[in-house]
Amino acid sequence: MSLLFTPIELGGVTARNRLWVAPMCQYSAQNGVPNEWHHVHLAQFAAGGAGVVIAEATAVVPEGRISPEDVGIWNDAQRDAWAPIAAAIRRRGAVPGIQLAHAGRKASTWSPFSGRRGSVLDEAGGWQTVAPSAIAYEGFETPVALDLAGIDRIVDAFAAASVRAVDAGFRMLEVHAAHGYLLHQFLSPLSNVRTDEYAGSLENRARLLLRVIDAMRAAAPSAAVTVRFSAHDWADGGWDAAQTATVAAWAAERGAVFFDISSGGLVAHQQITTGPGYQVPLAAEVRAAAGVAVGAVGEITSGPQAEAVLAAGDADVILAGREWLRDPHFALRAATELGEPAAAPWPDQYLRARPRA
Ligand SMILES: Cc1cc2nc3c(=O)[nH]c(=O)nc-3n(C[C@H](O)[C@H](O)[C@H](O)COP(=O)(O)O)c2cc1C
Repeated sequence: MSLLFTPIELGGVTARNRLWVAPMCQYSAQNGVPNEWHHVHLAQFAAGGAGVVIAEATAVVPEGRISPEDVGIWNDAQRDAWAPIAAAIRRRGAVPGIQLAHAGRKASTWSPFSGRRGSVLDEAGGWQTVAPSAIAYEGFETPVALDLAGIDRIVDAFAAASVRAVDAGFRMLEVHAAHGYLLHQFLSPLSNVRTDEYAGSLENRARLLLRVIDAMRAAAPSAAVTVRFSAHDWADGGWDAAQTATVAAWAAERGAVFFDISSGGLVAHQQITTGPGYQVPLAAEVRAAAGVAVGAVGEITSGPQAEAVLAAGDADVILAGREWLRDPHFALRAATELGEPAAAPWPDQYLRARPRA
């Protein structure tokens, strides 16, 4: 039996396999409310055999949306719209997960397929962004530095979002601390030049993330709380894998059970080289240094490639994004590629299409 199709238990939540769907923004909501598109999009991956389906970056406050078309979970109408989506994922055997997010200085931007770039200004439905410091992401409007009361409100918003997410049926809550969004902005010295207890030392820069984890654990004790990190800024003087490992270990002490290791997104001048499995070494470094369960993500597109990462001991789970968009039945295909089609959770309705072992 492959490692890829071996179940894994994390924080009381068991996934049927280790090939998961990474969060992917759809830029397709109005007023933060998910709709029929999100339902079809996410449920198909559960039918396609995913172990966990993680819904896209979901804003915990309106001003935390990346674009005006992003989904949210800051009110009850949004919670109620998420509930049938989480149920559809669960009924197809996958764990419903959701990424809870605040975009900070990278909020209020045009969606990728709007044909426009940069910040959405107030008159076009945008808003004033906030961040640890009043330093703009290159090409975007300048954010306002959060005061201490503003930071407290964000912690409370992650807690309230966690309650709504669990009430909607999500079992895994992924904190978005990657890709240059708010929590990553606090972690990296390139975007955080505050002079208070949220800046300077690693402990201080990690303070907000750790407060968020504490608040989420208290608000949603039945959920598995996980974190997505960018383990490298790919820029001089920035965040890196060693700092990620230290903070992951601190987060684990506070009850976070899994770390999804991505990279980049903090600054536009990042120097990043992509290719098959390009972020696997970062996952392996965090796993070895922190002794925590990690996911590898980034250009992992076949069953054998995914299995090799697990067999090398570089990660505990494989997440994929674009390969699921190309083939929503990626997990069913991956099992066939590994020579064990019956290891995948083929829906009964599709069994006539399953290859023989
Ligand atoms: C359409 C699209 C939307 C994405 N949205 C998110 C998101 O909401 N949150 C996030 O952490 N990453 C997001 N990502 C990054 C993916 O989760 C993933 O890390 C990245 O695509 C690399 O994996 P891949 O090579 O398997 O696609 C997005 C990627 C794509 C292609």
